[in-house]
Amino acid sequence: PFVVTDNCIKCKYTDCVEVCPVDCFHEGPNFLVIDPDECIDCTLCEPECPVNAIYPEDDVPGGQEQFVALNAELAKEWPVITTRKDPPPDAKEWEGKPDKLPLLER
Ligand code: SF4
Ligand code: F3S
Repeated sequence: PFVVTDNCIKCKYTDCVEVCPVDCFHEGPNFLVIDPDECIDCTLCEPECPVNAIYPEDDVPGGQEQFVALNAELAKEWPVITTRKDPPPDAKEWEGKPDKLPLLER
């Protein structure tokens, strides 16, 4: 499956959700995750993310391996999102900032 990683936190542009043919994105307060049990590896979401936060499970950036388990865990708790919405007003300021995991809201 594909995995949403650190760059999404506090950016949450949601361009990714509209292209998913199996509606496997789930939305939290400031981050999205992919349900690994539903993702069919179609690859369509990966190029949609303007901050390149989406990776195949086997190719997540070094140091971000914990996002694989985090996507699986939070997908069970958070509701499905299928429609794009406005990002947080300060999303631009957080683009590309490293190590945002401590800022993740549950
Ligand atoms: Fe959805 Fe395809 Fe992305 Fe998986 S790879 S989350 S099925 S759009
Ligand atoms: Fe996040 Fe990128 Fe989707 S910022 S919400 S993974 S478009």
